[in-house]
Amino acid sequence: MQTELLKPKYKQVLRDFYAQLRDFYTQLRAIRVDQLERKWIAISMLVIGLFVGIITIDAFFHGVNPPSKVETIDSASLHLNKEFAEDNLGVQVDAKGNVIIRMVAGRYSFFPKHIEVPAETPLTFRWVSMDVLHGVHIPMTNMSSMIVPGYVAEITTTFPKPGEYPVLCNEYCGLGHNHMWSNLSVIAKEVWSAPVKSPAKGGSNNE
Ligand code: CUA
Repeated sequence: MQTELLKPKYKQVLRDFYAQLRDFYTQLRAIRVDQLERKWIAISMLVIGLFVGIITIDAFFHGVNPPSKVETIDSASLHLNKEFAEDNLGVQVDAKGNVIIRMVAGRYSFFPKHIEVPAETPLTFRWVSMDVLHGVHIPMTNMSSMIVPGYVAEITTTFPKPGEYPVLCNEYCGLGHNHMWSNLSVIAKEVWSAPVKSPAKGGSNNE
């Protein structure tokens, strides 16, 4: 019933909008623009188009994606949260053989401080903040995301080449922001082995 009533209203709004757009265009056409100015307008439009094109193509070929889902978490009690308890942080291989890396960002470091991951392997990073807004950036890779308190930032990526990479915070988070970083070693797939975890201590989280 209500949608039926709304329909004509929408149509009217659309019609008005279209009429205004047409008026605007006629007015635009009436303005006398110098030949030289026209050329420069065209050139600037072309440059804008070129840049937007480069960004789009680059994003497409480098697999730049926005984080795909919204997942919330209580940042104030991460230590009580099973998934992000201290024993659980870092690199793990789950039952299906997926490599999952759980990382906590806090003033002023990423925990754990150093991790080793295999090259040419899909890696699922799960980032959380334990205090304020942080960011994570691994130069020369497509790893770049905000780490917003209260949310899990999940990013799946693959590092093609072995090497040493810094993990940097790229959101201003306080006086120690520029010292907030840790290391990531990408190791050849054949050489890498899953870290052996000490068996979980009976039920509760370590204090
Ligand atoms: Cu954390 Cu800047």
